Amino acid sequence: MNAKSLAVYQKYYGDPRHDRSSLFRVLAAHTASATALYPGSFVHIVPSFFFPTTVYVDTDKQARRFFADPDLIAFLRIRKEYAHDPTVRFHAVSYMDPLPEPDQGVDVLISQFAGFVSQHCRRYLRIGGLLVANDSHGDASMAALDPSYALRGVFTEQDDTYRLETSHLERYFMPRRGSPVTRDDLERTQRGIDYTYSASAYLFQRVA
Ligand SMILES: C[S@@+](CC[C@H](N)C(=O)[O-])C[C@H]1O[C@@H](n2cnc3c(N)ncnc32)[C@H](O)[C@@H]1O
Repeated sequence: MNAKSLAVYQKYYGDPRHDRSSLFRVLAAHTASATALYPGSFVHIVPSFFFPTTVYVDTDKQARRFFADPDLIAFLRIRKEYAHDPTVRFHAVSYMDPLPEPDQGVDVLISQFAGFVSQHCRRYLRIGGLLVANDSHGDASMAALDPSYALRGVFTEQDDTYRLETSHLERYFMPRRGSPVTRDDLERTQRGIDYTYSASAYLFQRVA
């Protein structure tokens, strides 16, 4: 990577204890040779350490420069944990606009701190494919209300080591107080909810 790209990557994700590698490693272990879509990725290229093909989408100028770096693939070849050569596509557009990607073209949709990705980009996820979403901006809550998605697991995290748990899922998305959350509430606040049980990230499957 050129010095500028490396500097921006190091600044935000350079500490391997906080780059969420473990989350994507666990996720990739459930989805052999998957293609992933990461709307609102910024320069968080870590999914490409685990997924041979990843499509990134961001409107940020630094992200556009980062993904244009011709040495990016060489950087990924050092870090990748699969046999294939990495493939990366980047779209410098809003993920709310139509993307130049086929409907149901990806196996994994990644939603991390970037708004309602589960809603705007559902069409690109194949039926049966997996969504990993956190609730920082309320996207996991939004997916939980969406009959197109079924909750299949939760990721718990300790010291940046993620574990996937698939039992007792019925206890998640229960508000600690007040009435059940609605789509309107989430759209208005764009924030996660205080639940009796919460997780670092949630794993959904697209079922419709
Ligand atoms: C808080 S950062 C999170 C970056 C990364 N997902 C992470 O978890 O570290 C949010 C990113 O989403 C991008 N973003 C927000 N809304 C977007 C949209 N509608 N289309 C494309 N990118 C968007 C921003 O430009 C920013 O880079």
